[in-house]
Amino acid sequence: MNVTVVGCGYVGLVTGVCFASLGHKVTGVEINEERAARIRDGIAPFHEPGLAERLGSSLAEGTFKVSSQLDDAVDADVIFLCVQTPMAADGKLDTTFLADAAEELSQVLSGTGRRHALVVRSTVTPGTTEHLIAPIVRAHNPMVAVASNPEFLREGSAVSDFMEPDRVVIGLNDPWAAGVVADLYEPLDALVVHTTPSAAELAKCTSNAFLATLISFSNQIARIAEAIPGVEVEEVLSILHKDRRLSPVVDDQTISPGILSYLKPGAGFGGACLPKDLSALTHYAAAVGERAEMLEAVMEINETQPSRLVSIIEDELGQLAGQRIAVLGVAFKAETDDLRESPGLKVIDLLLEKGAGVSAYDPLVARDAVEGLTEKGVGFAPNLGDAVRDADACLIATRADEFLELPASLDAVGNERAIIVDGRRLLDPETLSGPRKYIAVGRSRKEPTESAGASSL
Ligand code: UGA
Repeated sequence: MNVTVVGCGYVGLVTGVCFASLGHKVTGVEINEERAARIRDGIAPFHEPGLAERLGSSLAEGTFKVSSQLDDAVDADVIFLCVQTPMAADGKLDTTFLADAAEELSQVLSGTGRRHALVVRSTVTPGTTEHLIAPIVRAHNPMVAVASNPEFLREGSAVSDFMEPDRVVIGLNDPWAAGVVADLYEPLDALVVHTTPSAAELAKCTSNAFLATLISFSNQIARIAEAIPGVEVEEVLSILHKDRRLSPVVDDQTISPGILSYLKPGAGFGGACLPKDLSALTHYAAAVGERAEMLEAVMEINETQPSRLVSIIEDELGQLAGQRIAVLGVAFKAETDDLRESPGLKVIDLLLEKGAGVSAYDPLVARDAVEGLTEKGVGFAPNLGDAVRDADACLIATRADEFLELPASLDAVGNERAIIVDGRRLLDPETLSGPRKYIAVGRSRKEPTESAGASSL
């Protein structure tokens, strides 16, 4: 089938290249010439495991090409809109790029005299496909069916998420187009859910709001646990995880579902999706007359989590002015080089405000990728050892495997004094040797006493 993907960012490029590797003929439209040229040369513009290989082979086989012209969409049976829907200053979604792309596309499709399915894949709030995009396009060509097909791709595993989807959601009121879009996914043998565009859009926002809620819930419990001497949040949450409704027993084997990894405390959620989608859903709720109090609380807990981490360091070191802190992990999570809404970067700003000296390191992020860091006086280290050599405290901000080596790295560079603040509960305190101080988020720093907690009863 002929497919056009408009926008070659995370979602568009992964979608286009994966469809190409399923045997479809795909054109990726990218207006940023520099990005288009790199993709044409087989260079993925961001780190995504498995993408560069598939891009290279689909370019070589001629199943994927890059264009900067929307005109190339005239031959497409299905056109995916994968342009950015960033958060506007008021916290709502900015759909300008999406509407502009639809407007431009509608000119291209006006004279084709044939049917096309136009699919909104960018994350949007309910009603966007039917009430914003469909009228723009159908005014020029009433034969265009407009659909919602939200993506559920995680950065760092986007290619495998595409190739082995939990479900493919197609929100569409037109049986012809619903069949055409479903046929595209046919080689994946996936569960396809057909629904309305608004239900598909809300399902996507709901999915991200749910993940965010689990993370803030865990951080809320961690904050309570930190106040109780001798109580470990890990133990408390692992008791929760053992509930068979969360960890079912099948054939005498306990299944540990992936979702449980979101039921752990940490530095808070970041990235281009969870914070933005949560904010968008909250504003959407208000627009339909519902206050989303719970989602507001989820956002508030998340926004204050970086300062909680800084407070932990401050409680241990006292005044932060003049102290040197190594922040390990500046991407928003491990296995990505994406810096958007990164808890690590927020922690760095808070530390700088308090007069601390900061060194930073991330295994996947290049020094010059982080704008303004050098100007702010942050030393961006080329390796873990250099980052922690002179540190008074080391803060783990992402779950990168390399940070498991932190205690050994500190030993190797002869730094005996640095405390470790584990913002992701990555290290196993049992494996730490010597007198080094280790503090993890959700771990009480108070000694257990007989009267612990009694005053609050
Ligand atoms: C998220 C969703 O997981 C995808 O299903 C969705 O398609 C995507 O947003 C999107 O809307 O495009 P992503 O932002 O890449 O994907 O990240 P996740 O891996 O879900 O991580 C989100 C946050 O949760 C991060 O801050 C991360 O540190 C945290 N996280 C992630 C955990 O706390 N535990 C985990 O096991 C994984």
